[in-house]
Amino acid sequence: PPSFSHMEGSSGLGRADCRAKGGSTGFKVAILGAAGGIGQPLSLLMKMNPLVSVLHLYDVVNTPGVTADISHMDTGAVVRGFLGQQQLEEALTGMDLVIIPAGVPRKPGMTRDDLFNINAGIVKTLCEGIAKCCPNAIVNLISNPVNSTVPIAAEVFKKAGTFDPNRLLGVTMLDAVRANTFVAEVMGLDPREVDVPVIGGHAGVTILPLLSQVKPPCSFTQKEIDYLTNRIQNGGTEVVEAGAGSATLSMAYAAVQFADACLRGLRGDADIVRCAFVASHVTELPFFASKVRLGRCGVEEIYPLGPLNEYERVGLEKAKKELETSIGKGVAFVKK
Ligand code: NAD
Ligand code: LMR
Repeated sequence: PPSFSHMEGSSGLGRADCRAKGGSTGFKVAILGAAGGIGQPLSLLMKMNPLVSVLHLYDVVNTPGVTADISHMDTGAVVRGFLGQQQLEEALTGMDLVIIPAGVPRKPGMTRDDLFNINAGIVKTLCEGIAKCCPNAIVNLISNPVNSTVPIAAEVFKKAGTFDPNRLLGVTMLDAVRANTFVAEVMGLDPREVDVPVIGGHAGVTILPLLSQVKPPCSFTQKEIDYLTNRIQNGGTEVVEAGAGSATLSMAYAAVQFADACLRGLRGDADIVRCAFVASHVTELPFFASKVRLGRCGVEEIYPLGPLNEYERVGLEKAKKELETSIGKGVAFVKK
């Protein structure tokens, strides 16, 4: 094993633990895939989150360097690095929240489903570790194709007897972040004041923005609806085609917003509502992204979709058709 068996981000000479605790001991968070394009800025931003007391950075490459670097930030969280499969269990033990951006990203011309063959196995192995070492942790799954990797995670947890549907969340927050930005641009609003529910899943037509439910209420022309729906559904492809890999920086931002919401829920804050891809009964499908309320046990309430207009109803049918296939593929991968 590498010499840095869980490398502490400090000299080890400190006399006492004098981190400000603010009435709580803070949460223990692991990032799996921490040395990657998303993983690095995500690790940076989580090190800045005052709700985090311990930050475990796990990857199969480069975690010693990333850990040494991040550990020099003078924020409260203690950072430890873990390298390679043989340190996965140590990385996961005792964690409250596990964020997973591990896996390969798209290149131009690929769909997210083209990543299935590689990422399905990666997610399966990581989730087996979670089931064994921190079965009560909240899991934020970022690795694509999310529409299939979340069902894979659920099946792994079911097999291990640890599945809690409230604790497994596919991260679709970037779709909402993009939707807020693009709607604000079109309407001349401040994006921080815009809230667009985005439901369904996280790929192409399964990404369904509900423009009829935007806050503050907006009245769009049909041309604006077509433009916005298309841009939100293809935001990921827009970045991939721009040529520097798939989204990493906006994704790290979105992942941190989402993880922070999960931690505030765990802490007991009220009214924490975000969209996420979760085990659900809002449609006939076993998984669906919609607004959920986050609390001490993870997902505490899944909200109904609310009134949809005809355009959105048509979009929903298309989304469900593709989602059914992607979910089935994920389930079959573990059951086979
Ligand atoms: P990247 O290649 O830059 O980083 C991935 C990291 O995962 C690498 O450091 C790699 O070493 C690591 N990794 C590979 N196998 C691993 C394993 N078995 N255990 C732990 N770590 C492992 O890729 P990226 O740009 O950071 O994207 C990562 C994933 O996130 C991709 O699947 C991408 O499609 C997805 N993604 C999802 C969203 C979303 O909205 N949910 C947004 C952007 C990207
Ligand atoms: C995104 O939406 O940016 C991610 O899912 C990455 C991708 O492949 O588009």
